[in-house]
Amino acid sequence: MSDDRQHEFFATCPRGLEGVLATELTGLGAQEVAPLAGGVKFAGTWMTCAKANRQSRVASRILWRLRQAPYQSEHDVYRTALALPWAQWFTEQETIKVSVSATKCPLNSLDFVTLRIKDAICDHFRERTGVRPSVDTANPDHRIYAFLDARTVTLYLDTSGEALFKRGLRQVQGEAPLRENLAAGILMLTGWQADDGQGSCQPLLDPMCGSGTFLMEAAQMALGIDAGRGREFGFERIKNFPHAAWQAWRDERDAMPVNIRALPIFGSDKFGDALKLAHYNLENAGLRDVVALKQCDVLEVNAPAENGIWVTNPPYGVRIGEQAALQAMYPQLGDVMKQRFAGWRCYFFTADPALAKGVRLSASKRTVLFNGALECRLFEYKVIAGSNRKPETPVKED
Ligand SMILES: C[S@@+](CC[C@H](N)C(=O)[O-])C[C@H]1O[C@@H](n2cnc3c(N)ncnc32)[C@H](O)[C@@H]1O
Repeated sequence: MSDDRQHEFFATCPRGLEGVLATELTGLGAQEVAPLAGGVKFAGTWMTCAKANRQSRVASRILWRLRQAPYQSEHDVYRTALALPWAQWFTEQETIKVSVSATKCPLNSLDFVTLRIKDAICDHFRERTGVRPSVDTANPDHRIYAFLDARTVTLYLDTSGEALFKRGLRQVQGEAPLRENLAAGILMLTGWQADDGQGSCQPLLDPMCGSGTFLMEAAQMALGIDAGRGREFGFERIKNFPHAAWQAWRDERDAMPVNIRALPIFGSDKFGDALKLAHYNLENAGLRDVVALKQCDVLEVNAPAENGIWVTNPPYGVRIGEQAALQAMYPQLGDVMKQRFAGWRCYFFTADPALAKGVRLSASKRTVLFNGALECRLFEYKVIAGSNRKPETPVKED
């Protein structure tokens, strides 16, 4: 049964990726798409929501907007939550978790606001059934989010369940692995072409690949594999969701053949242990034959194609000795790009402000991105044959 009613949603994402997420959601059929800080607001049907959950590579969660109302006290928030028809969406037998975030909220304690929203949901069920749902903060059946600004509270029901960057694929993690949605968003920011129009993709290299997050995301993008293929979603537990329509669409997508083939996606790492992780993860995803892996120091790496995209996140040494070693490597990295990667666009994702100076090349673009709370930059170097002259376009910071 189809249900064409429109709902409002908010897709959360790592800060700095709102623009690429908005483009991605528009491509998935979302309407009234509006990027905001930390996410993208959009409208759509339940099926738009289901598709966004399964196919977005950049979203962290898709939240269904339930109600927005003014408040002055915790009691106003309680009354707004109490008035919602929770029993239409889930049962008292299921578990819940309430999370609250706020900017410029005048109330004293967000913990108390959280408690009052939980009380409202429990009171709603107790009035109707005599039983209240339990709280499970580790693995709840339903997640309720509230966002408060200075005057209004907005309540959301999560439709994702586990965060969407948990693709259910990567099994082992290396040193400082990237979240999958951050890696996918970075790939989109580089302009890497997952489809070159000739049955392949633009060449891609991560010469410090660790557990292979960029490689895995790229391989799936090039092969048209949905980010959330094979995993469960929170909306599957929402009572009034059009379950039959979702299952029919999902089964159809699952039945679509995937042409697994070798692609010009290259990964290398200096350390065999790290490379083993990438090997294991790709194997586990059935993508081992898609990507070429090699043990190699980044300073020894050669361009595997005439041109392409180099994207990597170098180690960021926390200890002083490690930092010194890293900084000593940056000028050599610059030389590698200049001498062996003419014609390539190279991208470094790092929290280390010393990288830009250290490589001694002019960055053609710097994009500010957040890895959790850590402020990072994506530096772009357009490598021009035989020189490190400044790019024609002025450097801009997004
Ligand atoms: C921050 S981690 C990359 C994590 C990766 N993006 C992931 O998601 O798993 C940095 C990687 O650089 C590798 N590495 C360190 N020094 C290297 C060098 N000189 N050449 C190549 N790889 C190096 C480390 O082994 C580590 O796997």
